[in-house]
Amino acid sequence: MPSTNPPRIALAPETAPTWIAEAIQAGGGHVVPLADAQALVWAHPRNPKGLEDALEAAPDVQWVQLPWAGVEDYTHLVDDDRRWTCGKGVYAEPVAELALSLALAGMRGFGTYLRSTTWGGQLGRNLIGARVTVLGGGGITTSLLRLLRPFDCHVTVVRNRVQEMQGADVVIESDRYLDALPGADLVVLALSLTPETDGLIGRGEMESMERHAWLVNVARGRHIVTEDLVWALGEGVIGGAGLDVTEPEPLPDGHPLWSMQNCIITPHAGSTREMSEQLLAERITANVRRFAQGGELIGPIDPDLGY
Ligand SMILES: NC(=O)c1ccc[n+]([C@@H]2O[C@H](COP(=O)([O-])OP(=O)(O)OC[C@H]3O[C@@H](n4cnc5c(N)ncnc54)[C@H](OP(=O)(O)O)[C@@H]3O)[C@@H](O)[C@H]2O)c1
Repeated sequence: MPSTNPPRIALAPETAPTWIAEAIQAGGGHVVPLADAQALVWAHPRNPKGLEDALEAAPDVQWVQLPWAGVEDYTHLVDDDRRWTCGKGVYAEPVAELALSLALAGMRGFGTYLRSTTWGGQLGRNLIGARVTVLGGGGITTSLLRLLRPFDCHVTVVRNRVQEMQGADVVIESDRYLDALPGADLVVLALSLTPETDGLIGRGEMESMERHAWLVNVARGRHIVTEDLVWALGEGVIGGAGLDVTEPEPLPDGHPLWSMQNCIITPHAGSTREMSEQLLAERITANVRRFAQGGELIGPIDPDLGY
């Protein structure tokens, strides 16, 4: 039954920006102290201890909204006692655009061209008509499939819960991901970080890829074993890597990846702060409205799957 009273929502930690409070109010919520709250919007991307403390101070909280799409730092707190949502899909459009940019830049040789100070030889391959494998089938992949449409690629998506996806030629389940690496001109990582996907792409996986293939990672750095990537790029085992995320992150100055011509790095800029604010505000407003009406919330975290 929808309640006639405005939902009482706490916003924490104290450093949370005011635009989030405005987003809660836009959804009809009242921002209240933790002790009075029915729901909590947690605005810190990486502070699980802070969230744990906040929940102890907020015994009546039935719903927790997390800010990021990736929730690996918080999964140990996610339980069946409350509803948990995150920013999955919120940043999909800008991140998919960056994935496409990294793929085009990498495949067309920009890693080399942009570092050149002299007129060199021609290099590059087409994305048009390429075979593309995407690991992950969530918000980012859905947007990327739409952006790839004019390029007439053959796209294989690998995901946990197989279902038809518009723009994908083939969708296969995650335990068959090794089948989808050979033959791909481009492999894009757009999946959640879980114990199963931590270190998913190492030496053996890269050896099974084509020597010209580009690996684009817009998900989490830990999906790729960094020292294996350095080896694979150095030995020409794969064509190159476009990385928006790295392990460690930030990637330290002087790290070998910085100086490799077949590596293009962006500093976790898939969705910049300017791009993200409005997108997250819209999600929070929508979910506060749904919470007030007793409706289904967008971006639920499954405690068993861990994303
Ligand atoms: N670079 C950035 O700025 C940025 C911004 C936002 C997000 N991210 C990262 O990108 C990830 C994806 O974001 P999103 O919004 O697309 O999230 P999402 O909608 O939650 O999608 C996550 C996808 O990962 C899939 N998955 C989980 N385990 C898998 C496995 N073992 N093999 C293959 N697929 C697996 C899920 O499959 P099912 O749906 O079939 O269960 C789901 O489709 C986030 O978790 C986050 O780490 C990065």
